[in-house]
Amino acid sequence: MARSCLTIILAAGQGTRMKSALPKVLHPVAGLPMAAHVADAAAAAGSEAVAVVVGHGGDQVRSVLEGVLRDASFHEQTEQLGTAHAVLAAREALEKGYDDVLVMFGDTPLVRPEVMQQARDRLAAGASVVVVGFRPDDPTGYGRLVEQDGALVAIREHRDASDEEKAISFCNGGIMAFSGIEILPILDAVKNDNAKGEYYMTDAVEIARGRGGQVVAIEAPVEDVVGVNTRIDLAAVEALWQARARERFLSQGVTMTAPDTVFFHHDTAIDPDVTIEPNVVFGPGVTVRTGARIRSFSHLEGAIVGEGAEVGPFARLRPGAHLAHKAKVGNFCEVKKAEIGEGAKVNHLTYVGDATIGAHANIGAGTITCNYDGFNKHLTEIGANAFIGSNSALVAPVRIGDSAYVASGSVVTVDVPDDAVAFGRARQENKPDMASKLRARFKAEKDAKKG
Ligand code: UD1
Ligand code: CA
Repeated sequence: MARSCLTIILAAGQGTRMKSALPKVLHPVAGLPMAAHVADAAAAAGSEAVAVVVGHGGDQVRSVLEGVLRDASFHEQTEQLGTAHAVLAAREALEKGYDDVLVMFGDTPLVRPEVMQQARDRLAAGASVVVVGFRPDDPTGYGRLVEQDGALVAIREHRDASDEEKAISFCNGGIMAFSGIEILPILDAVKNDNAKGEYYMTDAVEIARGRGGQVVAIEAPVEDVVGVNTRIDLAAVEALWQARARERFLSQGVTMTAPDTVFFHHDTAIDPDVTIEPNVVFGPGVTVRTGARIRSFSHLEGAIVGEGAEVGPFARLRPGAHLAHKAKVGNFCEVKKAEIGEGAKVNHLTYVGDATIGAHANIGAGTITCNYDGFNKHLTEIGANAFIGSNSALVAPVRIGDSAYVASGSVVTVDVPDDAVAFGRARQENKPDMASKLRARFKAEKDAKKG
């Protein structure tokens, strides 16, 4: 039977070095709060429950995370007395009795499910405590993993370490996994007799051994445990996340000619055989279907780009932009909350908002759907095979029929029936020989001024 698993996310930190009104663990990486990245990785490692430990007045953390995490419980640690004390704030969740308990920090968003899975495997094999270690370039500040005869015997915090222990390069990454039946007796035995006067979760190593339990250290890549303390760290973590995402999409069959210039959101979905040209930004909620091409300098959010469709260069797709099979949205076009039908073309300098465009319609350059009157938004419907001449203003609510034709420069305020041609502009008038007369008059006026 599968082992049950609770993940505790410590999120009580003030994060003062972020210099932010926003609590640290809510700062987004790829648009998702850091703590939610940790929860996602835990879920992918088979953890079915999340307990978040928040600081005093962690209402903001709670309300944001409640929105993105399913079924998380929240526990308040009113005073920050150390990592063991923080975990014990979630006692109520721990008492429910899980086989495995993962303890994670809310500010290490790059942790991968594989690392958590490895830790869980060691618990399943009989360990009481699993420590995730790593080898940083500079171990200053980290807890050192003290080993004897290949076994982990203690974790010594930097401040408490002897010179000999400080020379150890294998460090505590912060992530620990506990056998669910042992975590409470172990952490309840932790004392605060150290340089900082805190209850250290890391003392669990010695306590577990004292109880005859097995303690193991596993090693993870530095990336997985890298924590965010400053905005500089945050930017570095974002860059690492983006690099991983690019690699993932490339290996899944997405072509990118300059991947370093393409930026993804945590939820971006792209099918194989999509081509993304340089300098493209994906905001939240974008799906791109196979065969589509996203050309340079395009910005997409809340959009679905259908099979074989083409976007850009310099296009902006806003929430609700849905492009059907082989639809085209070209340069300097903005599309919002609009269905662009199969093979329809919106190629140049156009705004389409609150609209439906039928299959194979052609929207001429400079067309604007006038969807907003300052109070309400109104719908523009354009039928299949319709042709909208350049520089037309379609004043919504309005419907252009199937196969209808709108003359260039029209201001369309009433519905156009199917197959009709609409002229919504002043009729052109030509005055023969007028140009030379006009020039003669203008010259005379200029000469008179010179005196
Ligand atoms: C901790 C580890 C150290 C490890 C390092 C890795 C302990 C005692 N030490 O040290 O071995 O090398 O992480 O980064 O665990 N927190 C609370 N409540 C508290 C105290 C801490 O929620 O009362 C949270 C913090 O917000 C933070 C995390 O726990 O997210 C770690 O605490 P911190 O004080 O930063 O521990 P370190 O000294 O970095
Ligand atoms: Ca820390």
